[in-house]
Order: sequence, then structure tokens, then C-alpha cells
Amino acid sequence: MSDQVDEIKAKSDIVSVISDYITLKKAGKNFKALCPFHSEKTPSFVVSPEIQHFKCFGCGESGDAISFLEKYEGMDFYEALKFLADRAGVQLKPLQSGQQGVKDKLYRVNSLTTAFYHYVLTSHRVGKKALDYLLRRGLKISTIRTFKLGYSPDEPFAIRKYLIEKKKFIQKDLESAGLIYTKDGKTYDRFRGRVIFPLSDHRSNVVGFAGRILPDKEKLNLAKYINTPETDIYHKSKILYGLESTKKDIKKSGSVVVVEGELDMISSWQAGIKNVVAIKGSALTEDQVGLLSRFANEIILALDADVAGDSAAKRGIEIAERQGFDMRVVRLGKYKDPDEAARQNPDYLKKAVQNAVGVWDFVIDLIFAKNTDKTGIAKAKISREVVPILSRISDKIVQSYYIQEVARRLGVNPEAVAEQISFRKPTEDNKEASNVVIIPSEEKKGRRELLEDRLMSVAFRYDPKVLLNRQTQALVKTPLTRKILDEFTLFMDKNKEFDPSIFASKLPDELVSGFTDMVLKDIRGLADKPETYEKEIELIVRQLQSVQIKEELKKSALKIKDLELKKETGKLLKTQEKYNILTNKLHDLENPDLDTKKH
Ligand code: CTP
Ligand code: MN
Repeated sequence: MSDQVDEIKAKSDIVSVISDYITLKKAGKNFKALCPFHSEKTPSFVVSPEIQHFKCFGCGESGDAISFLEKYEGMDFYEALKFLADRAGVQLKPLQSGQQGVKDKLYRVNSLTTAFYHYVLTSHRVGKKALDYLLRRGLKISTIRTFKLGYSPDEPFAIRKYLIEKKKFIQKDLESAGLIYTKDGKTYDRFRGRVIFPLSDHRSNVVGFAGRILPDKEKLNLAKYINTPETDIYHKSKILYGLESTKKDIKKSGSVVVVEGELDMISSWQAGIKNVVAIKGSALTEDQVGLLSRFANEIILALDADVAGDSAAKRGIEIAERQGFDMRVVRLGKYKDPDEAARQNPDYLKKAVQNAVGVWDFVIDLIFAKNTDKTGIAKAKISREVVPILSRISDKIVQSYYIQEVARRLGVNPEAVAEQISFRKPTEDNKEASNVVIIPSEEKKGRRELLEDRLMSVAFRYDPKVLLNRQTQALVKTPLTRKILDEFTLFMDKNKEFDPSIFASKLPDELVSGFTDMVLKDIRGLADKPETYEKEIELIVRQLQSVQIKEELKKSALKIKDLELKKETGKLLKTQEKYNILTNKLHDLENPDLDTKKH
């Protein structure tokens, strides 16, 4: 197994792997980018082809190609390994059963289930009624194929029979996939008599299903939609319906239209709005916004008329605005949702999307529309609703624009509105939202640690072998640096040449990040002048020696005080002598010119 991991890693260049997701720019030996793991304006994400690691000096994320995929794509270790193996054309030997198990098996179960329900809908008489319904709703058969829509027969054991008898899965697998449930000791298919929407992640793994009831049953007291419950692979808050099919269009346009329901998504897509996803009736979550930020920088909300103004939608708006998205909102006019607009007037919908208005205009309009009176009381009501919203606009210039706008509409002066806003105490998430400053951990480090770090950085960059010098080695004391230096010494015992990527791959996990730090950090003042590294190392060594002597002086001084108290004259004299020697040494060290003249 570990042989295979090494082989796959060796065949997967981290620069090319990461380049599939974000744009890397060459910077000296390394590559730089805006960090995909936190939001920033100047790039602090560094990828090193040499040590095959990435590191963000803003948020601290670091790792190799596998951990990049784990973090960025939410893959688990095995998925990432498999992904890289496929990419590199390496045949991955099957692992012991159980390991690769859980997720992989669920994906297979779901993929077979998708095919089964799709077959029933499109090719079996049992699915005829459902197919008629979808066609009547205006879906084309090609669209039904694209989204692999299906129908679950109105029977208690259809999918169970198929997967267990024909495909040899066991009941437990179906339970884990959420396809069956047990009630009063009896087990049933979860989806019965419903149109099936397979729900995929953006990498095209089917992670779950939504099932819509047929219209003739709508009057019965049944949920119109049911969904797969949370499983190892289905997490409602992470799903964006349609993304696997539309991510390319979204990336191309840099903009994503967000609708509520599966059918809103499909209808809009069929009407020619290709950069669309659905949030399945809930508010936009952090996870969803984070996922979208890989593909787009603008979100155009096209929500049902009745929910666009509600608090869940506002929460989503805030999350997205905070992550730096431009946000606009589609006005649907007389249509109740994008699906209705797409069916009745596709051109209207397309124009409405093009003409979507700024999100704050939309929200503020909504509040004014609810309170049309010109009375003072109505104005106070508007102000109560509008102020919290204005205070959450994180961009100060945008905020000031809307303060003036609201003041104008209320017929009061802008200072009054601004004052209301400044009265509001920042809430917890407000505080977080305003300027998040990441303090580089460096500032908390002491001088010794900084010097040792710099010694290691310069040496690893230009000439690691200087670290084998015994005198230099004796100067390194900080635990992390010490451990890395010891590992380095061992490594050099066994290997003639220093290969940073092999070294990194052999390091214990807890040291890898420290090592990548040392290697990838910009070395201030030195980066462009490698020829000066020898002098630099001399200088650092000298400074470290001086730190060392100062530490010893401090100890001696304490000891002297102690011995004076105890009146131990003999020892006292000796210590004082040592103190003087150290003082002289320090003097020489800090005045190297005098030093050479003297000898
Ligand atoms: N939804 C859900 N569970 C429910 C109701 C709704 O998951 N019990 C989700 C579905 O994704 C649905 C979306 O919320 O598509 C919007 O719900 P709603 O507006 O009620 O349905 P429509 O999209 O209008 O559904 P349809 O067009 O099929 O009537
Ligand atoms: Mn709807």
C-alpha cells in the first residue's frame, strides 16, 4: 500500500494537480496564488515543485497533493489516492475490504439506483404516468436524460429487490445509502411513486436523491418532496443541485444563477440559462458559497417571489457578501418562480436575469414596499428594519451609498441614518465579518526562534550541508527546529544528496508543516541574491552565538545573586570570572572589526 502511495505521489506533480483548480503564477522556484482556503487580496499561497508541498502563509493550510484534494475537494484519503492514480494512469491495487469500502460502495449503490429509476421512467410502463407528467411540465426527453431523472415504482420493495437480488448488495448497504427505512419492524423503499432527481456532488458522484410526488397524490397529506437523509456521503447543506452539469458554464461566465428547486434549475437550464444551480429550498450555506467561489464571483439569486425577502435568504446573502461575492437579485414580476417563468416566457426570464438588480436595492425596496405610509411611525418601522441591514454591508463605500439612498427615500438627512448604524453594537458575527486580521505567528516568536528559522530557511534554500557543521548544530535549540535538524542529520547519514521532496515525504507528519514553512518562506532581503548566502549564514550564526551568550549571561547573573546571598565566596568568584569571560566574548562577537584587528 505505502509503495503504491509513493508511486502515485511520485507520478503526480503537485503543481499540475493544483493547477486544475486554481491559477498558479510562477514566482522564482515556486508558484503563487490567491489562497483557496481563505479569502485574501494578495497571494500568500505557495506551491513548491521542489518539495511537492503547498503552504498558505495567510491561513496556515499546508500539505501535499493528497491533502490538497482532501481539503479542496472534500475527498477522503482513498478517494484522493484513487483520483491521482487514475490521473497518472496507475492501476490502484484494491485495498483490504472495509478500507475503500464505505463511500465507494455507497456511490456504486447510488449509481445503480439512478440507472434503475431512470430506466423505469423512460422505458417501463410503470413509469409512463410520471413521464407524461414531466413532459406535460415542458421537460424535453433529452433534458430528462441529461439529468438522469427517474421514477420509483409505487411498491414497497422495488429498489430493495433489484439491489439485493440482482446486484448482490446486502440490506445494510441500502440502509447506509438511505434508500430503505424500517418502521414497526418492517422495511420499505424510501422512495415510492415519486419522480426521482439524483443529487450529485460537483464531481458527479451521486450522493443522494430527491423524490417528488405525482400531482394526483398532491392532495393526500404527503410531503411534496422527500430527500435522502444525512448519510456518510449525503450532506444537505453541501449540495448544489445541477452543479456537476453546469460548473463549466458557471466558470466561463464567472456568474451563477441560484434558484430554489430542482425543477427551477432544470427549466431554467432548458430555457438557455446554463449557469444555474438549485439550493433545494434552504438558505445558502457557508459550504455552498465556498464551493461556488471556485467557479464564480457573482451570485444572481432567482428565488421564489415569496421567499426572496425572508430571513433565511438574507442570511445567505450576508454569507455570500462576506465572502466577497457580487450579489444581484432577479425580479420575477408576475411569475411565482423561475420554473413558471421559464415555461411561460423563457425570454422574459433571460432578460430578468440580465437585468437583476443589486441585492441591497432589492432588500431595501422590499422593506419600503411593505410600509407605504408616510407617517412617522411607518418611517420608524422602516428604519428599524433597514438599519440592521445597512450595518451589515461590509464594504464601507457601498454602505455609505445606501445610507444616502435610504435617507433620501425616508426624507431625513443621511447623518441621522448613519448615527443609527453606529449606535448598533456589533454582533458576534459582525465582528468576525469586519476586518479579520491574521497575525502572522512569526510576531509571537522570540529572537532565537526567528534566527533559527532563518538559518534553516537560508540553508535549505542554498546549501543544506552547512547544517551539518557541528558548531552550527550546537546552536539550534528550539524544539521544532531541533527535531527537523536531527531528522536532516539522520537523512544525510543515509543519503549522499539532499532531495527535499524525498526528505519531506519521510518526515514525521508533525514536522512536515514546519519544514515546508522553512523552505517556502520568502527570505527577506535575500531572495534574489543567492550569492550572498554564505555571508548571510555567517551572520546568522554569529547572531545566534550572541543570543546564546546572552542567555548564559542571564543565568550567570542569577547565580551570582544567589551565591552572594548564600555568601559562598569560592563559587562566587568562579562564576564572576565566567561572567567576565562571557562578557568579553559577547563584546568580540558584536564588534567583529575590532576582533580581527586585535589578533
Ligand atoms: N423542498 C424539499 N422538501 C419539501 C419541500 C420542498 O426539499 N418538503 C425543496 C425542493 O428542492 C423543492 C424546493 O424545496 O424543489 C422548493 O419547494 P417548492 O417551492 O415548494 O416546490 P417547487 O420547486 O415549486 O416544486 P414544483 O415545481 O415541483 O411544484
Ligand atoms: Mn418553487
